[in-house]
Amino acid sequence: MKIGVFCPIGNNGWLLSENAPQYKPTFELNKQIVQRAEHYGFDFALSMIKLRGFGGKTEFWDYNLETFTLMAGLAAVTSKIQIYATAATLVMPPAIVARMASTIDSISNGRFGLNVVTGWQMPEYSQMGMWPGDEYFAKRYDYLSEYVEVLRELWATGKSDLKGEFFQMNDCQVKPLPQADMKIICAGQSDAGLAFSAKYADYNFVFGKGLNTPTAYAEINDRLKAQTDKTERNVQTYVLFMVIAAETDEAAMQKWQHYNDGADMEAIRWLQDQGAKDKVSGTDTNIRHMASSVSPVNINMGTIVGSFKNVAKMLDQISEIKGTEGILLTFDDFLQGVEDFGQRIQPLMKCRESVVTELTEQAELTVLEKSA
Ligand SMILES: Cc1cc2nc3c(=O)[nH]c(=O)nc-3n(C[C@H](O)[C@H](O)[C@H](O)COP(=O)(O)O)c2cc1C
Repeated sequence: MKIGVFCPIGNNGWLLSENAPQYKPTFELNKQIVQRAEHYGFDFALSMIKLRGFGGKTEFWDYNLETFTLMAGLAAVTSKIQIYATAATLVMPPAIVARMASTIDSISNGRFGLNVVTGWQMPEYSQMGMWPGDEYFAKRYDYLSEYVEVLRELWATGKSDLKGEFFQMNDCQVKPLPQADMKIICAGQSDAGLAFSAKYADYNFVFGKGLNTPTAYAEINDRLKAQTDKTERNVQTYVLFMVIAAETDEAAMQKWQHYNDGADMEAIRWLQDQGAKDKVSGTDTNIRHMASSVSPVNINMGTIVGSFKNVAKMLDQISEIKGTEGILLTFDDFLQGVEDFGQRIQPLMKCRESVVTELTEQAELTVLEKSA
């Protein structure tokens, strides 16, 4: 089972609460987190793109770094971990994104891949006069399909002449080609999103569901499988969860309760209003469900709260769900969370046994080399 960290590129990570740790995003913070994650054998680090925050007392996500420049920096200070940035495809032309990706491929020696998003929060784009109108919601995956066709052509051949509904390429050229196969990830949850991933993506990211119900999201794997049966491609699920861990279940649950008690209702209302804006695309649009979220304090993210031992057990349960290849983690406190994961949780996880064995062997080798 692969494990990744969702970099806190925006202030306060993923907790909309006055009682959660309050911090601004910096390169230094993300560097420490990703370097420690790499040290503990994490497989990948991903950052999102967010161009407008939710406001409220905590100014939630009003402070956000830019994903490509952040990940380029992180690529330069790591050596093994896979690095993913996110393309805001509505405002970043594919030929520019292809070139930025090739650049980070060069910085990272082939460890870079791309998350492509359609955009669901209109003010991110309308604030720059770049929202194409609400009918875009219904067309967003048609647009993304053409976008990715251009990317794939450019990375494979260095050229694109594609003439489509949304893009008109005219002997467009981008070189150097990336040295490694450029992986594309998408986080589609709707049928249109899953159909897109089945056709174009290498992995599909989904939201975990509920509190301490690690397998509750499993039906989306079946929906993705129905789509990949049609495209005959192997695309697996990576699921997003927040981990809140402590010595005991009670101590962990107390933290979770405390965060909920301090919920920033103004920021949450902004999220719910935005989530309800799409009225044209279909009832399965995931973001719309956030408007009726049961756990808005962390954007309705699946949440695993418990002792180190029980968190390890629940993460193992996720790994047993057919079609799931990886877990993307957020933490209430990222620096402490990554350390706790590496030292207290991962060693108890059956699905990470091979990683722990490799880390132990490496550590023994380093001791031997030093004493030689
Ligand atoms: C792991 C993960 C990362 C995401 N990153 C972003 C992002 O950077 N920017 C964004 O606008 N949406 C992001 N999203 C939202 C998705 O792109 C998508 O809008 C959402 O999952 C709804 O899917 P649908 O379009 O199929 O309804 C992310 C979702 C997940 C699960």
